[in-house]
Amino acid sequence: MSVETASPAGPPPAAAALVLEAPPSPAGPAPDDGRELALPPAIPLPRLVQTLRISVRQVQFVFRARRLYGETFRFRSLINTGETIVTSHPDHVKSLFTAKPEQAPSLTGESPLRPIVGPNSVLTLVGPQHLRQRRLLLPPFHGEAVERYAAMIAEAADREIDRWPTGEPFALAPRMQAITLDVIMAGIFGIEGEPADGTPERGLRDTIRWAIELSTRPLSQLFELINVGRTEAVGPLRRLLARLDRHLYAVIAARRASRGDGGRTDILSLLLEARDEDGTPMTDEELRDELLTLVLAGHETTANSLAWTFERLLRTPAAYDRMRDLVRSEDGGSAADAWIEATIHETMRSRPVIPIIGRRVKLPWQLGDFRVPAESSVLVSILLLHHRADVYPDPFAFRPERFLGVKPGTYTWVPFGGGIRRCLGAALAMAEQRVVLGAIARRTDLVAPDPAPERARHRNVTMIPALGARVVMTGRRGA
Ligand code: HEM
Repeated sequence: MSVETASPAGPPPAAAALVLEAPPSPAGPAPDDGRELALPPAIPLPRLVQTLRISVRQVQFVFRARRLYGETFRFRSLINTGETIVTSHPDHVKSLFTAKPEQAPSLTGESPLRPIVGPNSVLTLVGPQHLRQRRLLLPPFHGEAVERYAAMIAEAADREIDRWPTGEPFALAPRMQAITLDVIMAGIFGIEGEPADGTPERGLRDTIRWAIELSTRPLSQLFELINVGRTEAVGPLRRLLARLDRHLYAVIAARRASRGDGGRTDILSLLLEARDEDGTPMTDEELRDELLTLVLAGHETTANSLAWTFERLLRTPAAYDRMRDLVRSEDGGSAADAWIEATIHETMRSRPVIPIIGRRVKLPWQLGDFRVPAESSVLVSILLLHHRADVYPDPFAFRPERFLGVKPGTYTWVPFGGGIRRCLGAALAMAEQRVVLGAIARRTDLVAPDPAPERARHRNVTMIPALGARVVMTGRRGA
């Protein structure tokens, strides 16, 4: 079975709970009680084959492994040293998310993002340096702080919807990216709307768009693969980053030069004012890594999650019709809000844009009936966890109603990860999805040019709709 074979949503079974709990499975630092616990079962394929499969065909790889070996299995990867274990049990996930940071640090510093965003970002740092950066960045990403972006997000969405062609197929993902890129640029650099022509911010935005467009071409996966396991980029990726860096450093230099203009509340201004314990400001290199992280982490994920939402909705007519009826009705109000929220939760369950995350356990760890040695990489397959039939009955069906009046579980719904590494931009991503989804459902009528579900494709650490969620707009209303 694969995620692409999702069945269309039928009516929910009457009175049956649509979100359940998994049976308990003990997990955490392994007790030293002399009990012999085995290693999880291993997939008997060469290291290179396994690395290629998890990088390029992760969906098929993990679903097949779960079917053959169970919810916890081991594989060999060129990326991680030591044992690499994949788990999808909520109790195992909880043990990793609630562990002390030094017991189970994040693996993002060793992920394919490392050669791109560098070593100095909140994403790739570990230990006290990570916590320091995270504390610094939390306030502007707090729920209340992002609420003030709602009007700006709505304007960006309306501007974009006005440009869409009627009656011809187009991919939604790049259109969503145009919105989310403007939103994140506004938050980070304090620009309202599109950056003006000739400004360093415009150069940066255009280069990012170009880079993202390049990364959709077939050869780009090869360039990604030759960077797997590296700390510094090589080949075409290196040249692309050099071009991005020129713009990023130009933005930083321009802003340093204009410091003292006063009153700015954007994230770059905040970072420029930050000092560590001995009063040292961030270097240009540190700023570059942090800014690139926020721009990249902050727009591609949200854009593709929105694209997946429509890929799913257009193949689940009952859910799409209900959405349009509610958001267009005079008295839709809170029912419309609840349906939008439930739809976002269901999309992020069934199509988590980041399908796998990891921690390195620094001491022997128990995972149910198994024990893994210190220094193992333990990966949480968000995709497998979100497709557990004992938690989500009929897991391949797209059913927003699962989440109506139901708060997603902290360890069973983890599209934003968890613990002290939980996504910093979760509140912003949710706000963007709410506003953009509502605007598109209210203003447009979309159909899928092909009724077959779009397959998942893997780009770096993300899982995206293979064709960018193609749609045809059959009608548009005014803003
Ligand atoms: C739908 C959209 C998004 C999804 C699915 C998503 C998902 C994730 C996931 C799975 C992680 C890793 C968590 C872990 O290891 O436990 C993460 C981390 C992170 N995300 Fe997001 N993200 C989204 C949007 C955003 C946005 C809008 C920003 C804004 C800048 C952002 C910034 C970050 C940062 C900085 C981290 C690193 C946090 C840390 O390590 O302390 N993300 N995200």
